[in-house]
Amino acid sequence: MSFDYKVADLGLAEAGRHQIRLAEHEMPGLMSLREEFGASKPLAGARIAGSLHMTVQTAVLIETLTALGAEVRWASCNIYSTQDEAAAAVVVGPNGSVEDPQGVPVFAWKGETLEEYWDCTEQILTWPGEGANMILDDGGDATMLVHKGREWEAAGQVPPTTEEDSEEFSIFKALVRRTLAEDGQKWTKVSEEIKGVTEETTTGVHRLYELAKTGDLLFPAINVNDSVTKSKFDNKYGCRHSVIDGLNRATDVLIAGKVVVVAGYGDVGKGCAEALRGQGARVVVTEIDPICALQAAMEGYQVARLEDVLDVADIYITTTGNFNIITAEHMTKMKNKAIVANIGHFDNEIDIAGLAKVPGVVKTEIKPQVHEWTFSSGSSIIVLSEGRLFNLGNATGHPSFVMSNSFANQTIAQIELFSKTGDYEKQVYVLPKHLDEKVARLHLAAIGVELTELTKEQAEYIGVDVAGPYKPDHYRY
Ligand code: NAI
Repeated sequence: MSFDYKVADLGLAEAGRHQIRLAEHEMPGLMSLREEFGASKPLAGARIAGSLHMTVQTAVLIETLTALGAEVRWASCNIYSTQDEAAAAVVVGPNGSVEDPQGVPVFAWKGETLEEYWDCTEQILTWPGEGANMILDDGGDATMLVHKGREWEAAGQVPPTTEEDSEEFSIFKALVRRTLAEDGQKWTKVSEEIKGVTEETTTGVHRLYELAKTGDLLFPAINVNDSVTKSKFDNKYGCRHSVIDGLNRATDVLIAGKVVVVAGYGDVGKGCAEALRGQGARVVVTEIDPICALQAAMEGYQVARLEDVLDVADIYITTTGNFNIITAEHMTKMKNKAIVANIGHFDNEIDIAGLAKVPGVVKTEIKPQVHEWTFSSGSSIIVLSEGRLFNLGNATGHPSFVMSNSFANQTIAQIELFSKTGDYEKQVYVLPKHLDEKVARLHLAAIGVELTELTKEQAEYIGVDVAGPYKPDHYRY
């Protein structure tokens, strides 16, 4: 079998395969979906363009999708998050060899340039023969390429690049300009084939609701993030694990006793704050939402404004999904050797472009994805992963067991949209609660949970079915 792919080094495949094998043991949700649907192959005919961090856990997801019958092409959704051994193992496949890869076309390596990143995203949507008919997205970049591509094709041109465009958006425009020159109908044709998208994260979901609100969404979408078994687990417990992992691998600084600012106290912020407190840090939360601010206060965290703690804080973690949380001016006022890191999806939470423009500032690479920025005063700060999500840039993201929950939701959402396309309008949906409960159920036995069963009488008394769902849709967990 021969197919196109682009990874760092296929020679890493064996190391990747060992890690995938261990991850499978920790991903009971995905493995039981393989058992349940491996024979019926509900994804036969699905051609999935996947844009999601190319990690070991994602490898187990990809091989679950193919076990259920799908054809897949994959790219990472971040320039630093690929684990090269996982990418190599997926290309080689469980039965292939380095000389004769039998797996899935992957276009991802750790340390892509932004141009390469967008080329890889184009690759997953550019199939030999028939095109992709499903998107599995994380952050919405693949979905944005199809939508903007089609919009600009209809307009007959890509808007001129302006000074307000970020470096990345200029690169994105250049890519679409090139595709338009090659085939002025490319994205229109791609969009017409797509049956739907399943979206992994808060930020991507936000983009989808915006498109649906303006009537511009081109195909139905399932918001995987807001399955309870995704956002209340991956975002919270996943970050509770990987925030520390990222800090340790990047800097190995002792967290105990330090003052750590967590900007944002949503699901990600809650997990981060808890982990940092667990390490003995004194955690300060910043929030704009009075409910989340009150929650943080009730948990015993100081809630303050960023400006007011610049002279005491040692570490800053942004978790807001919003932009310009830490400005260049903030950074110039921080303590010497303060560590600045973002765990939100995009890199605009920290104004790195503004930092680079501070007069006299000098950037020194300590090691890949760890940079010291020294100001003319002699004081410096340490920025992780250039402001991109550092739990995947400096470490390996969330562990397998929590990702099994997220990816079981992804797999179920793909089956749902692909096999019942006609049931869905061009809107954003969440999976029904009984499927959310199913995902949780798939993970109980592996960690020794003994669930209490309702009696028929008890079920009647609280007005639910013995088999669930157990909560109304408005319940918040
Ligand atoms: P969320 O919406 O639950 O929480 C974000 C919080 O930030 C909200 O409570 C909001 O009020 C607050 N916020 C907004 N602007 C703020 C400001 N200017 N100052 C202080 N607080 C502010 O979102 P969630 O699920 O916690 O996700 C946050 C980000 O993390 C998103 O970009 C999401 O895509 C990303 N994410 C990253 C993961 C990773 O592994 N790195 C995993 C899961 C999500």
